[in-house]
Amino acid sequence: MFQSIQPAPPDPILGLTEAFVADPSPDKINLGVGIYKDAEGKTPVLQCVKRAEQRILETEATKAYKPIAGDPAYGKAVQALLFGADHPVVASGRAVTCHTPSGTGALRVVGDYLKQNHDGVTLHLPGPTWANHPSVFKSAGVPTTTYTYANADVTGLDFDGMIEALAQVPAGDVVLLHGCCHNPTGIDPTAEQWQKIAETLAGRGVTPMLDFAYQGFADSLTDDAVGLHALAEKCPELIVCTSFSKNMALYNERVGSVTFVGETAEAAQAVLSHVKLAIRTNYSNPPAHGGAIAITVLGDDALRSLWEQELAGMRDRINGIRQTFADTMAAKGSPVDFAFLTAHRGMFSMSGLNKDQVMQLREKYAIYMVGSGRVNVAGMTEANMDRLTDAIVSVL
Ligand SMILES: Cc1ncc(COP(=O)(O)O)c(C=O)c1O
Repeated sequence: MFQSIQPAPPDPILGLTEAFVADPSPDKINLGVGIYKDAEGKTPVLQCVKRAEQRILETEATKAYKPIAGDPAYGKAVQALLFGADHPVVASGRAVTCHTPSGTGALRVVGDYLKQNHDGVTLHLPGPTWANHPSVFKSAGVPTTTYTYANADVTGLDFDGMIEALAQVPAGDVVLLHGCCHNPTGIDPTAEQWQKIAETLAGRGVTPMLDFAYQGFADSLTDDAVGLHALAEKCPELIVCTSFSKNMALYNERVGSVTFVGETAEAAQAVLSHVKLAIRTNYSNPPAHGGAIAITVLGDDALRSLWEQELAGMRDRINGIRQTFADTMAAKGSPVDFAFLTAHRGMFSMSGLNKDQVMQLREKYAIYMVGSGRVNVAGMTEANMDRLTDAIVSVL
């Protein structure tokens, strides 16, 4: 059986990390993989998480299985974080939430649910989008297509093009939107634009699906939910996938969620019964530790406020380093004005560097970024800024 198998191509982003690790250069710079780095280039465990883990260690009484949908307390905490505990969607019972193995697991659960219950629906993805989106849904057997999102040089939103494309989505299909910190462009709609997006999708039998993997990484936990609220207010149905990978730095704990909002509480419960079947035949029930951390942090005033401070620290560093990079490039006489990067949010932007420039940076300067020119700005630090900007000016 295995003799005839040919090796699969390496993952373009994780493969880059392997090349980076193998590079012997002492001052190499990694702007590739999507992980937050602090000013020292580290990805530490948050203090709020360490404290929560101490408590869990002392109080945990069993390693028995969790329910298929996870701990009810987890679903409640996630809904409160997303909508607010008293939001009509929550109070009316129209939202059902399952604890999933992080955001990727949530997306796959949606894919399985769609394939098993609404076979033939197409998922519409923004162009461009996270490279794993089409792959996850292809694996689940859900066809995907692309709608206009970014402008031609991928520096800003083509809002008119986007609205025109969304207005053409057939009834019964699903439209995936990035909740904030769009990956790979960093381009997010404004609050007014979100209203228009929601109006365009509402009332047409199109179900919006928000991939909300970066809540709190753009402007604040509540500001970042502006798109979610616009959709929840205007559209009768909604799917939301979340992740604590980035905002609680729980990358390897694999903790996330999927929420289905139905037009009625009964419809939501019926959906939940099928989502549970999809989960049961996939990973059966979620890994407990990350969920316990999230419940502990979100449910304790002191830990919650420590978390918000630590999250603000990550966010401020990202937004600050965007400005430093743009200013430094301008001061060094860059032929390209990088001010557009300061309007972007989250860790990613498309730098506009072409494949040849990306390869020159890798080979001559040991600076690693994705071939598309996507940069993770969290890989920039005050310490590497001078070398990084000199190198980019030299290849431009
Ligand atoms: C847009 C988007 N969605 C989902 C994810 C899922 O991440 P995780 O599976 O770690 O939650 C990521 C991670 O990079 C992402 O960028």
